[in-house]
Amino acid sequence: MSTDWPALRAAAIAAAGRAYAPYSGLRVGAAGLTDDGRIIVGSNVENASFGLTLCAECSLVSALHGAGPAAPGPDPVPGPSLVAVAVVAGDGQPLLPCGRCRQLLLEAGGAGLLVEGPDGPVELNLLLPAAFTTTDLAERREPR
Ligand code: THU
Repeated sequence: MSTDWPALRAAAIAAAGRAYAPYSGLRVGAAGLTDDGRIIVGSNVENASFGLTLCAECSLVSALHGAGPAAPGPDPVPGPSLVAVAVVAGDGQPLLPCGRCRQLLLEAGGAGLLVEGPDGPVELNLLLPAAFTTTDLAERREPR
């Protein structure tokens, strides 16, 4: 599936406009294209208890799972997957995801997920090399 990056960025810019960031003053919007062609968005949400802040990408991943698949599928539902993500600050320019959000995006879109950076889209594995994954978890967990 090809990505309409201007449309994805426009959705991220609109989401940044809905951010709740009264403490940092940095509004962030994230928009993700799903493998079934939908655009899902998220905004950062801050709190007077600063450590509770939700990043825009975190809100996006939560919305992705909250929306579920476009059509009813088998049980258990494998869940929708992201193929491309645009993240912007309130100035409308791309913002690369923080480390925690790179890890969240990895599980929502895989190592090949395209993330828009200042010089164009890059694969997530370039932003998060040698990541901890579900494979590490499966191989290293101790038997109960
Ligand atoms: N923020 C995001 O929403 N995403 C990121 O990837 C980096 C940081 C937000 C969190 C906080 O509300 C504000 O930016 C300042 O850190």
